[in-house]
Amino acid sequence: MTPEAEKYFDSLKETYASQRPKSEALHKKACRYMPGGDTRTATFFLPFPNFIERGEGAYMYDADGHKLLDFQNNYTSLIHGHAHKETVEAVCQQMARGSAYTAPFEKQIELSGLLAERFPGIDLIRFTNSGTEANMHALRIARAYTGKAKIIKTEGGYHGTTDVFEASVDPNIKKAGTLDSIKVIPESRGVSENALKDVLVAPFNDIERTAKIIEEHHHETACMIIEPIMGSAGQITPKIEYLTFLREITERYNIVLIFDEVVTGRLTTGGAQKYYGVTPDITTLGKIIGGGTPVGAFGGKEEIMQMYDPRRKQMYHSGTFNGNAVTMAAGLATMKAFDEEKAAYVNKLGDRFRDGILGIYRRLGLNMQISGAGSIYNTLFTDKPVSNYRDVATAHEELNKILYMALLNKGVFNAERGMFCMSTAMTESDVDFGLDAVKSALGDMLPVIAAEAPELIL
Ligand SMILES: Cc1ncc(COP(=O)(O)O)c(C=O)c1O
Repeated sequence: MTPEAEKYFDSLKETYASQRPKSEALHKKACRYMPGGDTRTATFFLPFPNFIERGEGAYMYDADGHKLLDFQNNYTSLIHGHAHKETVEAVCQQMARGSAYTAPFEKQIELSGLLAERFPGIDLIRFTNSGTEANMHALRIARAYTGKAKIIKTEGGYHGTTDVFEASVDPNIKKAGTLDSIKVIPESRGVSENALKDVLVAPFNDIERTAKIIEEHHHETACMIIEPIMGSAGQITPKIEYLTFLREITERYNIVLIFDEVVTGRLTTGGAQKYYGVTPDITTLGKIIGGGTPVGAFGGKEEIMQMYDPRRKQMYHSGTFNGNAVTMAAGLATMKAFDEEKAAYVNKLGDRFRDGILGIYRRLGLNMQISGAGSIYNTLFTDKPVSNYRDVATAHEELNKILYMALLNKGVFNAERGMFCMSTAMTESDVDFGLDAVKSALGDMLPVIAAEAPELIL
């Protein structure tokens, strides 16, 4: 960061901190019992995170009394915003009838049925407690089904925190080799090097290089896993021909194609697979399908998924809270309310947001990008369109952090990496309020942008 940008960032952080004495005190208290006062790295930022007291609809209220328009929605998991009425009622009713049974119950049938009916790639489905677990089991069943061990993932792809998926999630590209020979980089210390030996990394949207990897390794590859839109890498949308190519080549070589739709599950009522018309073998889900409670699910072709049929004694999958009663009640109420009309509504808000951002860039003379689709978008401080992880990694990521802090000071909460996610609780005027804040924040940032990234100024 240039000294100019650093100075400006510091002044924003000072304003933020001075307005949040209660959050600061709570953070200090939290540090006594949790490392860094934190239990979820993705929610931590400096100088200290905002402590939230409650959420209602499109807004959250912090410990110091600030009202924040929520474009985070718990990293895209709250499709109807906070405290959605039908979901709250369903959860309260279910809690009064017991929160967990060591037995199946009817709402599991209702939610699995709703998802199987909506997602073209799901005949049979199983619930887990997180997206991480869903991907873990998708991988296991792919290995069991194919008798092969390796996985191919994309550089920058995020599939949760299991060792094997903590490969090349956010690597330093200076250390990650060339696109022709991407080096597998562990995302965290402590990730097993042995686990990473099973991982091959391909560039997203790159048919030629992905084909080369598959041609060389298909005999030992169990699955290829992708996020149809790369979320944490910066909402990178796929070329349709890349998806159809993946479908064709994986089918040819008996490689299980896994779509991680933990985030893109909200793109339509049947996720990205319905939107792009490409059907994977296995789909993993999470986030919105739990109505704000912890959840995950993996489902797919009957031929594969039936290996989990306990009567066959082929595969074991248990979990104390799988298909938990409260999660099922919350998920069902939320997903029933996320019908075609609501899906179209939230995507229309997304269109309004994207068009508004493009208008702001034009008015301020900024040559920047906005990536994403449907109800999730990402501001990117780069002048070039993005089609893979490296395109985003070479953007000026630190400017998104400055924008984030500036927006917090204006009552708007997005993600530090520049992600903005709509909810059905938002109105057009909420979106416009967010856009006004972005316009004013970017306007104030112009001298900093000019110093840090002159190529972005027209
Ligand atoms: C695409 C994707 N897959 C998997 C996960 C992991 O889900 P969870 O955090 O529920 O374990 C996430 C979480 O953000 C995600 O974005």
